[in-house]
Amino acid sequence: MTMTMVDIINAKREGQTLSRAEIAYFVEQYAEGLIPDYQAAALLMAICCRGADERETFDLTEAMLKSGKELDLQRIAGIKVDKHSTGGVGDKLTLVAAPLAAAAGVKVAKMSGRGLGHTGGTLDKLESIPGFHSVMEPEAFIRQVDRMGLAIIGQTHDLVPADQKLYALRDVTGTVQSIPLIAASIMSKKLAAGSNKILLDVTVGNGAFMKTEAEAVELARLMVAIGKTAGRETVAVLTDMSEPLGYAIGNSLEIEEAMAALNGGGPQDLRELALFFAAEMLKLAGLSQAEAQDRRRLEELLDHGQALAKFLEMVSLQGGNTRVLLRHQLPRAKFHLPVLAKAAGWIQEIDTLSLGKMVVELGGGRKVIGEKIDHSVGLLLERKKTDPIEPNQVLLTIDTNESEPEKQLLLEETARQAFVLSPQPVRRSSSILQIIH
Ligand code: URA
Repeated sequence: MTMTMVDIINAKREGQTLSRAEIAYFVEQYAEGLIPDYQAAALLMAICCRGADERETFDLTEAMLKSGKELDLQRIAGIKVDKHSTGGVGDKLTLVAAPLAAAAGVKVAKMSGRGLGHTGGTLDKLESIPGFHSVMEPEAFIRQVDRMGLAIIGQTHDLVPADQKLYALRDVTGTVQSIPLIAASIMSKKLAAGSNKILLDVTVGNGAFMKTEAEAVELARLMVAIGKTAGRETVAVLTDMSEPLGYAIGNSLEIEEAMAALNGGGPQDLRELALFFAAEMLKLAGLSQAEAQDRRRLEELLDHGQALAKFLEMVSLQGGNTRVLLRHQLPRAKFHLPVLAKAAGWIQEIDTLSLGKMVVELGGGRKVIGEKIDHSVGLLLERKKTDPIEPNQVLLTIDTNESEPEKQLLLEETARQAFVLSPQPVRRSSSILQIIH
């Protein structure tokens, strides 16, 4: 009997386990354009609702990997380490940790993505630098990483084309939120991108796709197992995304903040995470010494400007205008609206998801496939969780090109409501929740 998409969708809708052949059929045929989006979306939704077991997720990853070419990084000397985040709000960690690790000698051949749902994408952020190009031939990519240790580009069109189509479809069909789909999406790309070692940032909290630590552990274990089965050492770090990382959300604003961190300043949470991730990258690359020594070395690379120099070198090699960067002349929005607190207290919670959605709404992310984004807009927090607040104190500033006063007021009210105050002081918790080897 011939296999049909309707049978596969029905089987998953009823909670059955799909065979390896059924999964391969779906991925191959969809990548070739032989299955319409509506059938693919129906199956994705059935997977979101019914789940998929470990064997199905492995098969899905493998089928997606086989939909395109794999990059051969053997010509780059040394151990290549990749870093990937499951997504967050204000998450500019790659922009700091990757140049820092590269400045310490790690070879970082990084393929990044665009924004997904309410989360921002490293490529969109980098493209706020005039002239920066994220499209590069594999040959040039390999040469750059071999020569100076770092390149950050977009996925080449023949690298996991199945994910390129599925990622865009999931973004607009409410089917991002699924552990097996996220695991297969990320790991198929990481395996195809060719690095020897993989460091994963699995974000947890109201600004992440994984809302609870238990879900994040499940996703992390699954991805580590996929990496191990493929012969790539994979480490996952669970990090807190119950508030934005740093203070800036939005493309240009995040580049500015990442530059401050690369130059030894910037927000403390971003600096700490960057030092931690770069240290893990050193370990994976076999370049680590004693922990305290690594830490001192990495701190010096930030404080003495070498990490920033590495970033600027990469930007310049990829066509970006570093003069604009150094003069702080990235695109900025026309209006800067301060949002004032109405009451006193301590910040107990920040609705990070709503702040992420607000930046999309301002034009900093996409609502439909391929939409042009506005790099100048975003949010700049003044206060974060546990900070004390007085009435009329500025909580954050909204950078917008919206000129209508009524709409501006609405934005201010939505932003204010994202802050939940407690009458008592609030205890700070750690940004790093667990490490899964
Ligand atoms: N990042 C990815 O690359 N894929 C997902 O599905 C989610 C986050």
